[in-house]
Amino acid sequence: MRAVIKRITTVEQREAVRTVLRRLRPVPKVDVPRFADRLHEFSAPYRLHLGCGNIKLAGFCNVDALETIAADAIDDIRTLGRFPDGSAREIYACHVLEHFGHDEVIPLLKRWYAVLQPGGVIRISVPDLDRIVRIYHKNWEHFQKPGNTPWIGLIYGGQSTPYDFHKTGFNANWLRHLLEQCGFEQCEEYPHEPHFVPGTVDASVANATFGEYFSLNMMARRPL
Ligand SMILES: C[S@@+](CC[C@H](N)C(=O)[O-])C[C@H]1O[C@@H](n2cnc3c(N)ncnc32)[C@H](O)[C@@H]1O
Repeated sequence: MRAVIKRITTVEQREAVRTVLRRLRPVPKVDVPRFADRLHEFSAPYRLHLGCGNIKLAGFCNVDALETIAADAIDDIRTLGRFPDGSAREIYACHVLEHFGHDEVIPLLKRWYAVLQPGGVIRISVPDLDRIVRIYHKNWEHFQKPGNTPWIGLIYGGQSTPYDFHKTGFNANWLRHLLEQCGFEQCEEYPHEPHFVPGTVDASVANATFGEYFSLNMMARRPL
């Protein structure tokens, strides 16, 4: 049979048939672990890590819109529908607030305020436009070299998913104003390092490419 087929077909025809047959073979099953929601493993008052991405903070309920490797619960952090008012004692959001439009920020901060219990603490880290301008100016030559971007990742976001676009920006003055407008008190910058959760490496402590911190880390409280 093989000899007959070889005689009546060309090498190209045989290769084409092999390609079609290869495509028809069942794709081997790969075991992709299914996302396991773990919200039930936590209890109020929660410590919430909002927009966790791939950073898992021990002791926190890590929340994201996407089923990331770190997420314990999937929720839209603008509305936090899975978390009742007053159910959190702490909120941390690192390089997340800039992912929302100018008009979304106040309603979102008001929602976070409502979810925090009185006396609860909020920590927010965002790209600091004041620091970025200073670092950019100091390193002007770097940004003029062929192939170097004008820091577009830090300013406009990684743009790797629909949730990864920056839509607004902050400096300390502006963020404090917004937090106070939403009722928060005792707004103050906190140091980059050590991270308030020991051993954590996230964008709040980042200092690449120029050895200078570019994040604004601010904490505030919901009054008692
Ligand atoms: C730049 S990443 C920050 C990740 C992490 N906090 C860090 O410091 O590396 C922003 C995260 O916010 C999440 N995010 C953006 N919009 C969201 C939304 N509406 N609800 C929940 N998560 C959202 C994104 O999926 C992404 O994981």
